[in-house]
Amino acid sequence: MNLYHRNFLTLRDYSPEEITYLLDLASNLKEKKKQGIRGHLLDGKNIVIIFEKTSTRTRCSFEIGAYDEGANVTYLTNSQMGKKESIEDTAKVLGRFYDGIAFRGFSQQTVQTLADFSGVPVWNGLTDLYHPTQILADMLTIRENFGELKGKKLVFVGDARNNMGNSLMIGCAKLGMHFVALAPEALFPSEELTSEMKKIAQRTGGSVLLTSDIAEAVEGADVIYTDVWVSMGEEDKTEERIKLLKDFQVNEKMIQLTHNPDVIFLHCLPSFHDLNTKVSQDIYQKYGLKEMEVTDQVFRASYSKVFDEAENRMHAIKAIMVATLVNDDNLIK
Ligand code: CP
Ligand code: NVA
Repeated sequence: MNLYHRNFLTLRDYSPEEITYLLDLASNLKEKKKQGIRGHLLDGKNIVIIFEKTSTRTRCSFEIGAYDEGANVTYLTNSQMGKKESIEDTAKVLGRFYDGIAFRGFSQQTVQTLADFSGVPVWNGLTDLYHPTQILADMLTIRENFGELKGKKLVFVGDARNNMGNSLMIGCAKLGMHFVALAPEALFPSEELTSEMKKIAQRTGGSVLLTSDIAEAVEGADVIYTDVWVSMGEEDKTEERIKLLKDFQVNEKMIQLTHNPDVIFLHCLPSFHDLNTKVSQDIYQKYGLKEMEVTDQVFRASYSKVFDEAENRMHAIKAIMVATLVNDDNLIK
């Protein structure tokens, strides 16, 4: 397998074998790091990170992943991109300085334009539409817990028409998993993406189901997954989302309804599971809520693997950078 010079914009562009290869590479790099083996796979490479939205895990994963393998990193703020200079011109300039570009922002078109004009690999660190690096970390975590992915049932609860719902549906369909979007109809993923993923799932042995019926959705689930109700850039929709999603909170009752003693809980984070931030306190005061998408009890339960998942962001992102920046058919050593 050789993914040299490929972009990583959405998992739609990747085959099941390529995704599995990236997971294997991430596991391999994780194991090496745990053994204290210092990597040199990215020696002499220069990486630029441009984030229009806030980030903890993704930014740090790109930085640490790059440093661990010897690359240099620029975290670019206050650039001219999209202000005094077009995205196309910025892409052409950055492509002459850097070996790879990580981008987080609003429009998928921006990351596509960077890829079209830079001539170097571009990695999508989240747009409104997709969050593909997150899915690799999620799949790695699921595989670590169950030993395999094929045939596992993942239920995504909440705002299923956004980056996380879309990307998990793609990842599950490609990897032969059973994906359920549990959401009010108004927040179902698009018909176009759903029908494409249903066709792919038929070939891989997986399935895709959209439903608002909690008991039907979660029965036999291996993974219950949720995300914030209000994504970055949609803060003006807070009241509407709370109304739509208040009955879809992941709580102990929902977990019990899986009837699976081995079920695990995942969340991409950040999460509103308690009142420990200013934002959550403001929401509590305004809307009379104590927790949002997941209860504190579930978030802190032994079956919650959210911090293993967060750690895996770094191993997965490192694997993507290594796979696309190093021209080698045999990276797993
Ligand atoms: N899950 C995730 O993307 O986290 P950050 O927003 O902190 O990068
Ligand atoms: N859907 C969330 C994901 C955060 C990692 C957002 O876009 O804010």
